[in-house]
Amino acid sequence: MNTSKSIFRVALIGAVLSLCACSGEPVDGGALAAEKGCIACHGADGKAIADIYPNLNGQWERYLRLQLKAYRSEKRANPIMYGMAKDLTDEEIRILAAHYGR
Ligand code: HEC
Repeated sequence: MNTSKSIFRVALIGAVLSLCACSGEPVDGGALAAEKGCIACHGADGKAIADIYPNLNGQWERYLRLQLKAYRSEKRANPIMYGMAKDLTDEEIRILAAHYGR
């Protein structure tokens, strides 16, 4: 009885610790897109809110990742997207591209 309880405790602690390991950043792409403000122009699901903004839904994930890195390094010059991308980490770019792309 006690043994199975302590095994359960060890398993529970292990599960909690493994969650904590990645708790620094939200992994949910939709939440990250909202937090970073992307949805204000590109929408929550990548359908842009107005025809002056590109739709991102259906676009290749890799292409989106490359564009975000290009904006961040100013290789692709655009003042709006530079402002949005300049502080994104590689991990955040990966999550956002995975959320909007396919
Ligand atoms: C204020 C409006 C606005 C916001 C907020 C915004 N974008 Fe953009 N985004 C644009 C515009 C305008 C373009 C087209 C810029 C250009 O001509 O290169 C663009 C282009 C892009 C592209 C390239 C699309 C393509 O077809 O090449 C990606 C990827 C992108 N945005 C992702 C994001 C992400 C991710 C966020 C949040 C971190 C974000 N954007 C926030 C307006 C916005």
